[in-house]
Amino acid sequence: MRKKLAAGNWKMNQSLDEGIGLVSNLLELAATKTEYYQNNNVQILLFPPFIHLVLLETLLEGQPHFAYGAQNCSWADKGAYTGEVSASMIHSTGAGYVIIGHSERRQYFSESNRILSEKAQIALKNGLQPVFCCGEVLAEREKGEQFAIVESQLSEAIFHFEEEDIKKIIIAYEPVWAIGTGVTASPEQAQEMHAFIRNLIAKNFSTEIANETSIIYGGSCNAANAKLLFSMPDVDGGLVGGASLIAEDFFTISTSF
Ligand code: 13P
Repeated sequence: MRKKLAAGNWKMNQSLDEGIGLVSNLLELAATKTEYYQNNNVQILLFPPFIHLVLLETLLEGQPHFAYGAQNCSWADKGAYTGEVSASMIHSTGAGYVIIGHSERRQYFSESNRILSEKAQIALKNGLQPVFCCGEVLAEREKGEQFAIVESQLSEAIFHFEEEDIKKIIIAYEPVWAIGTGVTASPEQAQEMHAFIRNLIAKNFSTEIANETSIIYGGSCNAANAKLLFSMPDVDGGLVGGASLIAEDFFTISTSF
């Protein structure tokens, strides 16, 4: 059975103390739902800024339903790349995941599908599971191009990978028009795209792999709409921005399956 995921992308938020407070509050709430997480195969993933990663190793020790990762990694192995953080460095903190291809990275840091492919590859090589993001901008949806856009993002970046690698990837569908706007994709719009993506995985790899791949939704997912979104058969959880910074809200999302 594929995993259900409540993933929190903190983006560039939370000082060290704020991060510790947020995780402590979340752990306190989550302690009441251990059985629920177990029975529903739920994993909670935290994606803080790099500065929190080492702390999370300690804070999340002995928490089987929690794991964490970085929001980005370098495409390079190591060396003279001032300001960059490598996949192996991230892995050395105990992190198991990394977000690759978030639309904010594509937009503000000009990350192309080719660079994202390299990032996903180096992440996998260093024991990190990529959460690979895809999604169209509003103008593309208005022209009905959303399926072609998502297909090209996936095929240019990851569909040439080996089966063993593709199995480790989590896909996040994040329509750019829904990110941070308060405009959420309808459950039907999310389902339609998730089913399309699952079908692409089946076509490029196998039905078995497609059925095992977690495909999560991101874009103004919150405590009020998570349940409806997650009730869709191909929506396996959420990649949550703003609402993941409020312990109670993110906790509610994590219990919305
Ligand atoms: P919001 O939940 O704030 O819309 O952000 C979504 C997102 O970009 C998660 O990666």
